[in-house]
Amino acid sequence: MPVPIIITIDGPAGAGKSTTARKVAEHLGYIYIDTGAMYRAVTLAAIESSTALTTEDLCALVTNVTIELRTDDRGQRTLLNGVDVSDRIRQPDVTSLVSRVSAEPCVREHLVALQRMMGQHGGVVMDGRDIGSVVFPHAHVKVYLVASIAERARRRVQDLTALGQHVNLDEVIAQIAERDRLDSSRQTSPLIKPDGAVEIDTTHRTIDEQVDDIIQLARNYQKAYHYITTYGNM
Ligand code: DC
Repeated sequence: MPVPIIITIDGPAGAGKSTTARKVAEHLGYIYIDTGAMYRAVTLAAIESSTALTTEDLCALVTNVTIELRTDDRGQRTLLNGVDVSDRIRQPDVTSLVSRVSAEPCVREHLVALQRMMGQHGGVVMDGRDIGSVVFPHAHVKVYLVASIAERARRRVQDLTALGQHVNLDEVIAQIAERDRLDSSRQTSPLIKPDGAVEIDTTHRTIDEQVDDIIQLARNYQKAYHYITTYGNM
């Protein structure tokens, strides 16, 4: 039985993290944890309770909400205070505020603690912006996914169209550029390529190719681990 490991996948919006992470988890029989969905759920809680986006109010809010991730036959579902909000958290009002909410240090502190609890026993694929750098800096396999902004926007338009939202490509490009700027320039846990992460440019790769790349990295780690625990570190 191969050792259950922690795989982290970070990168900017639209680089293909969620689909790739979900498929890698399915293939390995691991749990998939979409940390972006957790930041989105807190943002939705702030919208629904008309919470001002101040440090004080967001800190009070985040300790009073319950966020759960569950898997059913429709895939991963996000529950906020027991209610399934998986589709609601993809709406534009949440998307446009989530960078501000996720920049708040106490929101991050709270969610990072939750993410560490969820992943501590291994057998997980976790995706986000700071997973390999802050949440699990000692993860066994760390991946940094990137893609050109034009390709990321094209994918986002495709996803949103499938959800029934009508969006304009130029607007999506502008939104992604702005989100990149906010995510990379915030003071707490900015989006960076984590130390030791393997960078995969997905612009011209298919999802299946990306998934295979990561499974190969996981298998290599597991083989090396098996070798070292069996024959020692020679
Ligand atoms: O991956 P996504 O678009 O669902 O993420 C939503 C937002 O949450 C994104 O703007 C950055 C933030 N985020 C974060 O700051 N840290 C994470 N680990 C995951 C997401």
